[in-house]
Amino acid sequence: MSDRKPYVGGNWKMNTNRTTSAELTRGVVDALRSTTTVDVAVFPPFPYLLAVKSILRDRGSAVKLGAQDVYHKPDGAFTGEVSTDMLKDCGVQVVLCGHSERRHVLGETDDLINAKVRATLEAGLECILCVGETLDQREAGHTDPVNQRQVRSGLADVTGDMLERVVIAYEPVWAIGTGKNASATDAQDVHAKIRRLLTQLYNADVAQRTRIIYGGSLKPANAKELLAQPDIDGGLVGGASLKATDFSGIVQAC
Ligand code: 13P
Repeated sequence: MSDRKPYVGGNWKMNTNRTTSAELTRGVVDALRSTTTVDVAVFPPFPYLLAVKSILRDRGSAVKLGAQDVYHKPDGAFTGEVSTDMLKDCGVQVVLCGHSERRHVLGETDDLINAKVRATLEAGLECILCVGETLDQREAGHTDPVNQRQVRSGLADVTGDMLERVVIAYEPVWAIGTGKNASATDAQDVHAKIRRLLTQLYNADVAQRTRIIYGGSLKPANAKELLAQPDIDGGLVGGASLKATDFSGIVQAC
């Protein structure tokens, strides 16, 4: 890891309920009370955002509140969708865009994801842009072109200044929720290539400052090796973020 401040996000996905989301928040806050050297965010389901925010606020926690998705239009007849203003109103600071489950289960396109990234940044929020190849794409030797395309299109019309509020999450789809993480060498290779692309798209300084985090079956047992790689600046955690001790173990590995 470099002098970039590590970033760890806990993506709770469609898990927890009113009681367990509150318990988990309290557990995370208590476990991370003395952690100031890592940026930490939690991404609860929409219905629990306000309650989680109020626990974070009451406990004076630096843990950021994140949303798992957003819609790019400001308001109107978009049944079921949630705008950036609504998220800000609930105290959200950071939004996940292009998570693999949104791409591959819900069918989001590169263009829609780019619209969400731009709306998020234009609203003054932070954005975690998720990219990653499927198993078929990896086996066909398309890992690099797929990730490069997703980064390029996700960041279309995003300026160097705006990129200050972007974290890129490399999450190989085949590693998500499968218990099979990418090897530290393979993940480092993809991260280094994404950073090289950022140098081309912006410049070396911007590329060196941008955090690129890894996601996919990250747990306390494999976090140390992955997070020790020079271009891996933290993690986006799914399953292990649902247990405060596992999540804080990963944060501490940073
Ligand atoms: P798992 O950690 O459960 O593999 O999920 C990773 C992920 O999708 C985080 O966004």
